[in-house]
Amino acid sequence: MSIRTDEKLLMMPGPVTVPSRVLLAMAKPMINHRGKEFSAMYGEIQSVSAELFNTKADNISVISGSGTAGMEAAIGSLNNKTDKILAIDNGKFGQRFKKLAGKYGTVVPLEFEWGQSVDLGKVEEKLEAGDIKSIAMIHNESSTAIRNPAPEVGKLAKKYGAYFILDVVSSLGGDTILMDEWGVDIAVTGSQKCLAAPPGLSIAAVSEKAAEEMKNITTRPYYLDLLAYRNSATKELKETPYTPAVSLFYALQEALRMVKEEGIQNRINRHYLMTKAVRDSMAAIGIEMFPTLNQYSAYSNTVSAMKAPAGVDGEEIKKALGKRGIIITGGQDHLKGKIFRVGSMGATTPLNIMNTMTELEFVLFTLGVIESTGAVDDFASEAMKDLY
Ligand SMILES: Cc1ncc(COP(=O)(O)O)c(C=O)c1O
Repeated sequence: MSIRTDEKLLMMPGPVTVPSRVLLAMAKPMINHRGKEFSAMYGEIQSVSAELFNTKADNISVISGSGTAGMEAAIGSLNNKTDKILAIDNGKFGQRFKKLAGKYGTVVPLEFEWGQSVDLGKVEEKLEAGDIKSIAMIHNESSTAIRNPAPEVGKLAKKYGAYFILDVVSSLGGDTILMDEWGVDIAVTGSQKCLAAPPGLSIAAVSEKAAEEMKNITTRPYYLDLLAYRNSATKELKETPYTPAVSLFYALQEALRMVKEEGIQNRINRHYLMTKAVRDSMAAIGIEMFPTLNQYSAYSNTVSAMKAPAGVDGEEIKKALGKRGIIITGGQDHLKGKIFRVGSMGATTPLNIMNTMTELEFVLFTLGVIESTGAVDDFASEAMKDLY
């Protein structure tokens, strides 16, 4: 016997459980994607997204493609092959930016061990060496559950006249993003994380300055040309350059309505308290968090990464929880087996966190890591008391 898919609890850092309201929105009939109805839906998506990014609605475009499409669009649309792109890599997704930077521009890598914080001194050294056109960084590095210092890197970008590309794929909707205030030129997110929509859409926010510069780029991608997306999205009849995934737009529209109903700040607070509940529960049973913080970094607001306890493979913990119907994630690449990760994104509830923590505690007990159960409940519910 095994647990049915619809009985499983997704506690991964995306995709996340999608509320039935959002799933049902996808059952609506197709419409003309070059008509008034689509334009109105696109306008609504732009306006709520703009509140989440803290930028102007005209800066928002939606690409039919997952978060990586947004990352590729950002790097490729803003840089020519000879332009130097400083790519900050302290995890799997920073590494992805580095690879993309190498494809479209001239990559200047800045690598830190995965799980370590970004050293701003090293960022400045690279900028001082000169000639950096763009900086690419992940805000919330989901592979290691660390929040990188976006405001500080934004200041350095301004000081050295570089464009700033920021991936907010796993933070927008679950953490504060101040695109304009931080001096971000392009920010990109995905639909399947803190927004609690299905996978398949990427939202890109492009500043006017970045859009102006894109006109000078001769090697802009074709399907992922952000200038084309921006031009289409700012027409009186809003549209996308190519046929959009209309059903996913319906879902995103409904998911963003739910964001508004909850209130953006309430949603960010809920994410904060749920990740705190995970950390407090883990501390109560002696499980260490994986990231090493410095004064400018923080634990992620949306996902938690824990070190696998001595003598236990992180994959075993993941599998044992999976058998009990709770789907968490392990480490990626060389971190496989060494860490395990619990997401608290999107529509995740305090009850989901409580269930996950108590089941996780039980699994650790059965694996011989802890000698008794019953320690996590009080810590988790204390952390989340303002949510009840
Ligand atoms: C921070 C971050 N950036 C980019 C991506 C890639 O997004 P996608 O898998 O939607 O292409 C992810 C996905 O996990 C992510 O967490």
